[in-house]
Amino acid sequence: MQSDLNLLRIVKCQGRHIREVCDIEYKSFSNPFPEEYLIELFRMFPETFLVAELDGQTVGYLVASISGRRAHIISLAVDEKFRGRHVGSILLQTIIDNLKVNGVEEILLEVRLDNIAARRLYEKFGFEAAGDLRGYYEDGGDAALYRLRIY
Ligand SMILES: CC(C)(COP(=O)(O)OP(=O)(O)OC[C@H]1O[C@@H](n2cnc3c(N)ncnc32)[C@H](O)[C@@H]1OP(=O)(O)O)[C@@H](O)C(=O)NCCC(=O)NCCS
Repeated sequence: MQSDLNLLRIVKCQGRHIREVCDIEYKSFSNPFPEEYLIELFRMFPETFLVAELDGQTVGYLVASISGRRAHIISLAVDEKFRGRHVGSILLQTIIDNLKVNGVEEILLEVRLDNIAARRLYEKFGFEAAGDLRGYYEDGGDAALYRLRIY
């Protein structure tokens, strides 16, 4: 994948990343996951909690859960300063490759209906809208359910 971020590394999340992951989460979402929940995800899904590092700085992350042949992307966010430079795409491509190798056949996720940037990103990777979830978010916002078959 073309990127100007030649030194970008995608690594599994480690304890040292959590602070910066939280910062990105808080700045990216109106209803961010609390730090304790992110730590719980880190403990539960060590293989599928990925971090994008640039010169030692955390610039994005993606966490997915796996249940049998189905995976669920729980969160994906890129530091505002690094958006539009394919960090999100690289994280997404890396998790798709990782999940395929682990026998996953289907990836699901929810995204706010009005989150055009994220929807375009997922659609670019072949995710298809599989229905709207009215009032899905705590603030009453609606979500679109997206699905990608990868077998
Ligand atoms: C959604 C998000 C992760 C995308 O990360 P990114 O690194 O900026 O995305 P990329 O540079 O890889 O963009 C990939 C594609 O997404 C789409 N896209 C990205 N930003 C966009 C924007 N602002 N407007 C429209 N489309 C956009 C484009 O189709 C783009 O492809 P292109 O570069 O060929 O035009 C990032 O905007 C973000 O962190 N947003 C806040 C958190 C969030 O909404 N997360 C998703 C929750 S479901």
